[in-house]
Amino acid sequence: MELSVAVRAVFAFLCTATIAFTSSDETSIHRRSVPLTTDDTQMAHYFFYQRSEYPKDCRDVQSQCSTSKSSGVYIIKPDGFEEPFEVFCNNDVGGGGWTVIQRRDSGAVNFNRSWSQYQDGFGFLSTEFWLGNEKLSYLTNQADYELRVDIELSNGASFYTTYKGFRITDERGQYKVTHIEPLESNARPFPSICPTNMIYGTCTCQATCEDPNGQSGCYSDCLGSEGCTCPAGFLLQGSDCIRASECGCFVAEANLVIPDGETFVNDDCTQKCSCINNQLICEDYRCSTNAVCDVRNEIRQCYCDEGYEGDGENCPPSVSYRDCQDVYDADHRQDGVYTIMPTGWPGIPFDVHCKMENGGGWTVFQRRNDGSPSFDQNWAAYKNGFGDSRNFWLGNEKLHYLTNQRNYKLRFDITTSSGLAKYAEYTEFQVESESSNYTINKLGIHSGNTGYYLSYNKGKQFSTHDRDNDACGNFNCAEKHKSGWWHSNTWCSCYSYSYCYYFQYSSSCKALCTPHNLNGVYNGGNGERIFSYYYYYYNYYCSPQFVEMKIRPSS
Ligand SMILES: *[C@@H]1O[C@H](CO)[C@@H](O)[C@H](O)[C@H]1NC(C)=O
Ligand SMILES: *[C@@H]1O[C@H](CO)[C@@H](O)[C@H](O)[C@H]1NC(C)=O
Repeated sequence: MELSVAVRAVFAFLCTATIAFTSSDETSIHRRSVPLTTDDTQMAHYFFYQRSEYPKDCRDVQSQCSTSKSSGVYIIKPDGFEEPFEVFCNNDVGGGGWTVIQRRDSGAVNFNRSWSQYQDGFGFLSTEFWLGNEKLSYLTNQADYELRVDIELSNGASFYTTYKGFRITDERGQYKVTHIEPLESNARPFPSICPTNMIYGTCTCQATCEDPNGQSGCYSDCLGSEGCTCPAGFLLQGSDCIRASECGCFVAEANLVIPDGETFVNDDCTQKCSCINNQLICEDYRCSTNAVCDVRNEIRQCYCDEGYEGDGENCPPSVSYRDCQDVYDADHRQDGVYTIMPTGWPGIPFDVHCKMENGGGWTVFQRRNDGSPSFDQNWAAYKNGFGDSRNFWLGNEKLHYLTNQRNYKLRFDITTSSGLAKYAEYTEFQVESESSNYTINKLGIHSGNTGYYLSYNKGKQFSTHDRDNDACGNFNCAEKHKSGWWHSNTWCSCYSYSYCYYFQYSSSCKALCTPHNLNGVYNGGNGERIFSYYYYYYNYYCSPQFVEMKIRPSS
């Protein structure tokens, strides 16, 4: 398709005495360049003009009382425009005198250009070009102009259309086309002309202030692959193209327009702006403590951490069980692994073993079935937990959060080396935080057939071989007993008559740091083994086959 657009002043300018002109081709006002013909190596070009005063447009050129002038490149200088410039004058159609402002005939020149390039003009007068909005503005403001659009289709058919009242405003007016009226055309139906402030170009899905990405479909006025479209940097609002920054939902800090109904969140997620009816409404925004400010799928907002669910500002845990009692109360009556989230737990939900016997709802925090892994672990391991489903320590940090969300009782079961089932219960159990070294600060009344004297561990800090909090002189109970435990200085002395049989008669005297060493070495040696005091002096269950410690809310 070929297209050319030209303007012509409605009133021909009369020749005046002040305008010098000739009719010869030699003195036409084509711009010429004449290379120097001396042997001077320096290249230079002369430009010379026959006239001291330039025509204002192609009509002026044509009407300068010459004999016929052929179409071609001439120099004009519209009123008020600083410099004269070249234009292509078409004298072949419609009576001639047309100043061509645009031509497209090959696609060789890219017309997808910036505002400033459209302002200055681009391309080649001999082939494809845009004259430039600034020149056009001066040109069309000096008289009443007609606009003529010539289109030649690829099948050879051609038609033209003329309009009257064509005028382009200045840059402040964004080079708007003022009201124009169709005049004449040999095309049926009468072709539509680009509305105010639009340009003719490749018609893509039109971006509007409401839909800055142009996703809601192609603009209905687009004919074929070309049509009226907003210049780069402009968006359609109503039937007008306006700068993106003038759209109601322009976000200055991001230099973008957000679509109606969508939201924009700033870099650090402290402000959230929504576009409602093409109006930007901003408010303070804050991520929940269980959320991060992040960009995902190109959307920036607060995103809840794993294990939490919500809009980012509010992120309640996605798991609602606080402990195995909640699991039990939700009618889960099978022993097994369930995911819980204690109140205030700063991490993600975690798995626990639940025991549903003996009233149900027991959250197991320790279990021994065999010797692997070792329970002679360091502070960090006891803090975070270790082991597998057969042998584990849940972790002091979890135990702390668990026992501080409601009132709990403690139970431990052991199966003695001879296979007898024994148990102990305490009516209260609570473990303090790490800053208090996980001190047992509550331990209620004992019942059962083992586990007496655990009360000696009450008020004691947790110790591991690398953090000795037992207050037992230089003696490191956790190291000697090979267990992380609430070792006690109350038992920290060397009695000859107490302790497990093997321990008692061991050649080396060892401190007695605890009446129960449930984290001792499975089938270990003297003083290191698992043991539990159950009645009188001398009475210990030594090296039990099975140990399990658990808690449930006290009703
Ligand atoms: C037009 O130019 C802009 C800016 O250079 C570019 O981002 C865009 O993809 C171009 N559009 C087409 C259809 O080539
Ligand atoms: C906790 O243990 C550390 C290291 O053993 C010790 O320095 C600190 O004083 C203990 N905290 C309290 C409250 O006793």
